[in-house]
Amino acid sequence: MRDIQTLLSTFPRENISLVPTPFHRLKNLSHETGCDLWIKRDDLTGFGFGGNKTRKFDFLLADAKKQGCDTLIGIGANQSNFCRILAAVGSYFGMEVHLILSGEKPEVSTGNLLIDHLLDATIYHVPRLERESKAKAVCETLTAQGRRVYFMPPGGSTPIGTLGYAVAFYEILHDMKKHGVTIRHIIHASSSAGTQAGLVLGQAISGWDGKITGISVDVPEKELTQAVYSLASEAGAMMGITLSPNLVHCDENYIGKGYGIPTQACLEAIKRFASREGIFLDKVYTGKGASGFLDYCKTGKISPHEPALFIHTGGNIQLFE
Ligand SMILES: Cc1ncc(COP(=O)(O)O)c(C=O)c1O
Repeated sequence: MRDIQTLLSTFPRENISLVPTPFHRLKNLSHETGCDLWIKRDDLTGFGFGGNKTRKFDFLLADAKKQGCDTLIGIGANQSNFCRILAAVGSYFGMEVHLILSGEKPEVSTGNLLIDHLLDATIYHVPRLERESKAKAVCETLTAQGRRVYFMPPGGSTPIGTLGYAVAFYEILHDMKKHGVTIRHIIHASSSAGTQAGLVLGQAISGWDGKITGISVDVPEKELTQAVYSLASEAGAMMGITLSPNLVHCDENYIGKGYGIPTQACLEAIKRFASREGIFLDKVYTGKGASGFLDYCKTGKISPHEPALFIHTGGNIQLFE
């Protein structure tokens, strides 16, 4: 098996995430479903309330520093987990932070937005379709003022950000070994493609013989599959790795009415994880991801004979929206 650390040794990296994150069996849910269910607790990556974005920032922030940037600019929804981590990372490293958020400015800031304010980020509220043009304008203005800006798309899903989840994939391989469990199906919530692309890249590098399924929370399956494959290929190309499109599996059946609109199954999954395992999911991402995970147990897509893993990608601050 190729060594990921050697492959990544030329990429600058910060240790923002507190890793390895816990990996453990879901005892009560396994009992209830008759399956052997495990969880990777990336809700506990530590920094800025944690979640999958800190792993992306291990590489993104290092890249920004390498480029001599002093200002971070990001795009997201009002309750963006990515923007919350961005604000925390920027503050910590003494950089200026600008967030372009879709959604009206609420009278009272809650959840992630409350934290963005606490961290003194400069926030621009714009309609969804104006986010990119506003970001471009903010980048131009700040550059004209002499700032060196590092701009990131939604979710920090760039080839560099993707590397964080290739590392996470190897961590999971190590977890399996340590716990003596052979998992052949990994499931997680997917949206801007970066998390899944990184995992798939890790799979391609390691040659792991299993399946990763991204449960889409908003993007149609075909579009997300293409986005994951493109991003994983771009990230792989940076280190001379090519990968097969057959590694990418996305499932659009748990989206419901769209981004941020919870389905009944999502709400039920949140309740079940909370009451049975003391684990808190969110209504935008992990609740939908977990609704797919539990449904796979019911429909036999997760076999009772094959241990399966859910990656908790964080976001539970959203419960306090
Ligand atoms: C909590 C949470 N889970 C999952 C995702 C999906 O990750 P990605 O955007 O990398 O597909 C996000 C991203 O926004 C998230 O905030």
